[in-house]
Amino acid sequence: MSSAIRDQLSTVETPDPLVDDSEETDIVSQGLVGEITVDGDTAAVPLALGAPYSPAETELAVAVREAVEAAGYEPSLSVAIDDETPASEGPIVIAVSSGKGGVGKSTIAVNLAAGIADRGATVGLFDTDVYGPNIPRMLGVQGEPVRADQNQRIVPVEAHGLKLMSVGFLVDKEMPVVWRGSMVDQTLTELWHEVNWGQLDYLVVDLPPGTGDAQLTMLQQMPVMGSVVVTTPQDVALDNARKGVRLFDDHAADVFGIVENMSAFVCSNCGENHEVFRAGGGAKLAAEFDLPVLSRIPLDPAIGEAGETGEPIVLGESDISELFGDLACDVLDHVGRRRRHSHTARTDSSETSQ
Ligand SMILES: Nc1ncnc2c1ncn2[C@@H]1O[C@H](COP(=O)(O)OP(=O)(O)OP(=O)(O)O)[C@@H](O)[C@H]1O
Ligand SMILES: [Mg+2]
Repeated sequence: MSSAIRDQLSTVETPDPLVDDSEETDIVSQGLVGEITVDGDTAAVPLALGAPYSPAETELAVAVREAVEAAGYEPSLSVAIDDETPASEGPIVIAVSSGKGGVGKSTIAVNLAAGIADRGATVGLFDTDVYGPNIPRMLGVQGEPVRADQNQRIVPVEAHGLKLMSVGFLVDKEMPVVWRGSMVDQTLTELWHEVNWGQLDYLVVDLPPGTGDAQLTMLQQMPVMGSVVVTTPQDVALDNARKGVRLFDDHAADVFGIVENMSAFVCSNCGENHEVFRAGGGAKLAAEFDLPVLSRIPLDPAIGEAGETGEPIVLGESDISELFGDLACDVLDHVGRRRRHSHTARTDSSETSQ
């Protein structure tokens, strides 16, 4: 009987109850369990989950399996986010942005994408920087020829478990900067449609630095669900980062949070933490906009070296690798929270309107 299963599932807590809701915080009351169908010993349970490979949902799936088994059935789980949820078709698009260049945006984008892929997801990385497209170098695939498939769609370059498309593969370094600039407006937003990404769970976009028209156009034309804003702790960078956060104000995309990069220097001789820039800048910005600080990445020569050798540092074994891995997990959990909440909110409003 599916009611026995439902009773068992009522003991599973939601990872993130709606703040303004009642005391019932289990997944059934929160509307995350769809219509259960039983066929012999097997119970098919559709769940409103939306962030594949996120830690919270992986944990939840384990708890749901156990609950279904406790009711005496073999679980068969499926994901059923409703059609209206943004990006329910196609990949979940996560942008990495910054108000200013040179703050480590591409470094974060590469390691975020590789970190998500390392959890098992299929991930694309779209490098839109026409002025300094350095992601191919960071992944050790610079100069790689770009192929078209039989339908004349661009085949992304595979590197370290990622599917990469970079403007760097297409623009000639000798090309005058003004022409490259006009590419941003004219072709970039179209370009990602021309790429045969295949089935992706996530697409990470390294947005061009700055807060001008180019960034705005990209945000308007790509189904970006949310963004990670990268800043360094200096005030100048922060002013720019402020604009970077505001860019999202008029847009449906969320800012998941702030990454403070180059936040301190860990001395390899004495092991001490030196604050090179004024400390806590990221936290100040985060507090101002009521956003979380997702990560504080220290200034570490190993990060620069990894950029040169073409090996994402998140795939290594070090404290820094772990920091980047945690960042990837955090971002995925933000995606899940956002999608579960928009699902629950919609289910609630459709129930009250009946
Ligand atoms: N935490 C860090 N510690 C040490 N070096 C870093 C760190 N973060 C980034 N770097 C290095 O700083 C340089 C700039 O980083 P990156 O290219 O990621 O910045 P960006 O914001 O994408 O720059 P651009 O605006 O040019 O695209 C690179 O050489 C990179 O390896
Ligand atoms: Mg860059």
